[in-house]
Amino acid sequence: MKVLLVNGSPHQKGETYHALSLVEKALQDKGVGTEWFWIGNRPVRGCIDCEGCGKTFRCVFSDDTCNDLIEAILKADGVIIGSPVYFAAPNGALCALLDRVFYAASTHGGLFRGKPAAAVASCMRSGANNTVDRINKYFSFSEMPIVSSSYWNMLFDSHSPMGRDERGSKTMQTLGYNMAAMLQSLS
Ligand SMILES: Cc1cc2nc3c(=O)[nH]c(=O)nc-3n(C[C@H](O)[C@H](O)[C@H](O)COP(=O)(O)O)c2cc1C
Repeated sequence: MKVLLVNGSPHQKGETYHALSLVEKALQDKGVGTEWFWIGNRPVRGCIDCEGCGKTFRCVFSDDTCNDLIEAILKADGVIIGSPVYFAAPNGALCALLDRVFYAASTHGGLFRGKPAAAVASCMRSGANNTVDRINKYFSFSEMPIVSSSYWNMLFDSHSPMGRDERGSKTMQTLGYNMAAMLQSLS
């Protein structure tokens, strides 16, 4: 079994990566493999509602990572999408990408149906709940079971005035354990 960890930050090895790494460790503890997908820091197009994906279930634009992400999710048994919090929301590039990924693969094709998923937010201070809720909308629209933890899936970053986030680290660990349990119960 394999879970795809999607780092939606422009920083490849930043704070969102760290949060997802804690989930990865817990997954590995339970014998679940992982694969990483970084969305990068190059320009990402927004959806232009051309309906070109209606037949192919892929985006008409192939000059960014959209179609690669669709393929990566299709190959995985579960998916966890992490985002830094930007103005109490997921960062704009990630939203632009996910609008197209889920519109092409899911709205038209239902390609991700039944695949367990979760969202994780990395923040300095606040806005994580909104960020996680926004990403969860892609999953609930796509008939993907949303895996929970023992708290909201957020981690304060290393610069946070809130200090070292022990509770957040535990939340990431529990999320990994729960994703592993969900995958094992479905297999
Ligand atoms: C444009 C911008 C907006 C941000 N807005 C918020 C915010 O609303 N709330 C918050 O707690 N942190 C905010 N941050 C801080 C980042 O979410 C935080 O440092 C995060 O951990 C960075 O993760 P990364 O290293 O993976 O990019 C913002 C950062 C940027 C660049």
